[in-house]
Amino acid sequence: MGKKIIKVGLLGLGTVGAGLIKILQINEEQVTQRAGSKIEIKKILVRDLHRMRGVEVNPGLLTTDPREILDDPEIDIIIELIGGINESRKYIEGALKNKKFVITANKDLMATAGAELLLMAREEGRNIYYEASVGGGIPLIRPLKHSLGANKIIRLLGIINGTTNYILTKMSLDNMDFDAALAEAQAKGFAEQDPANDLEGKDAAYKLCILAGLAFNCKVDFEDIYVQGISGISSRDVFYARELGYDIKLLAIGEELEKGLVLRVHPTLIPLKHPLSAVLYENNALFVVGNAVGEVMFYGLGAGSMPTGSSVAADLIDAVRSINHQVENGIMEVNFQEKPIISMDELPSSFYLRLQAEDQSGVFASLATIFGSENVSLNMILQKHSVEGMAEIVLVTHATAEKNFNLALKRIKQTSAIKKINSVFRVIEK
Ligand SMILES: NC(=O)c1ccc[n+]([C@@H]2O[C@H](COP(=O)([O-])OP(=O)(O)OC[C@H]3O[C@@H](n4cnc5c(N)ncnc54)[C@H](OP(=O)(O)O)[C@@H]3O)[C@@H](O)[C@H]2O)c1
Repeated sequence: MGKKIIKVGLLGLGTVGAGLIKILQINEEQVTQRAGSKIEIKKILVRDLHRMRGVEVNPGLLTTDPREILDDPEIDIIIELIGGINESRKYIEGALKNKKFVITANKDLMATAGAELLLMAREEGRNIYYEASVGGGIPLIRPLKHSLGANKIIRLLGIINGTTNYILTKMSLDNMDFDAALAEAQAKGFAEQDPANDLEGKDAAYKLCILAGLAFNCKVDFEDIYVQGISGISSRDVFYARELGYDIKLLAIGEELEKGLVLRVHPTLIPLKHPLSAVLYENNALFVVGNAVGEVMFYGLGAGSMPTGSSVAADLIDAVRSINHQVENGIMEVNFQEKPIISMDELPSSFYLRLQAEDQSGVFASLATIFGSENVSLNMILQKHSVEGMAEIVLVTHATAEKNFNLALKRIKQTSAIKKINSVFRVIEK
């Protein structure tokens, strides 16, 4: 028999905290039934006791003193929804030392210190649940840890940043330019006022650290991930990509090859018929290839108060069950192995290249010669409009080692008829 009431301490009552409280209020009966105990939020840590919060809570629950939660022996579970790294880590470590179960939505923390924290949780005989840290409301952590646990994961392809996907969708479907699409994303609340982490691919890379760690059962460092953001993409690239049968998406890619892992976040041309091409606006998706299950895809809203609150609430149900049945749910992910990381240079990739050249005979032939001599074969080559003696050339290569493509690119830059390299992006065919 489990406890009749499980008491919970909440750290943070912002966007996600408010979503969680609403879900616990509107779905109280179902949550209680599934958890097997009534859940009581006993205290809530905030900075400002008087701020309006858009959710009904008894003001007597609010506190600015973390010790009131961390040191309360009646509290079995703490839910960290503060964000940031230093303070949240301190609170989570404090909670684990006091034998509390921990739930967090904090991707920055789980990406940078997740392995250490999970290890500490195991030493304390407790667990950390972090479903909401990646993909907001989409179940990703639990499927990788449990449902697909018997698979060898071959590949992960993720659209795991809503801001960049919103911008790229607007550029692709509404022919917007980058700045206008970003301004609209900010106006609609899909992009922060300082969107650098999203645009530069850092946010997606943090999430890839967490997903790849689980998928490939290893500790992944942020520094191991090759990261390129979307700010170099122009509306011409999006337009030409579509003409060639592709969409441009910011993909987070994790693969396990014979020699090790490939981990990268970069703008990628994907075929219009690929399921990820249908992931539009602020939606997120993770496409997983397992050696037993084949291809599966998880899709939905990757952020927002209620979707993210939904993942936190699911973790809460799991944590309560785990307390009631005294099971060590999900401890396996701390058995991390060391795996070598393959450098981008060694990786086979196809490339999209857009350049400006003098509009004269022989340019195509010299491009073909340079690529040929570096063992890069061309899949498609187009000459686009020609203005004042300058032509725009767009080409896509077949898969080749990146170092070969880079050698060819270096030589192309030195060719006198080539005036400018506008853009270079990687292409995947499936
Ligand atoms: N928003 C999303 O859609 C989303 C999606 C997935 C994951 N997440 C993650 O979820 C976490 C929470 O995000 P959020 O959007 O809910 O953040 P938020 O709206 O900024 O809320 C943060 C809350 O934490 C409190 N807080 C912050 N620092 C504090 C401190 N030092 N001491 C006490 N209280 C403090 C704030 O108190 P005051 O209210 O008094 O200022 C606020 O209630 C982050 O790790 C984020 O990355 C968010």
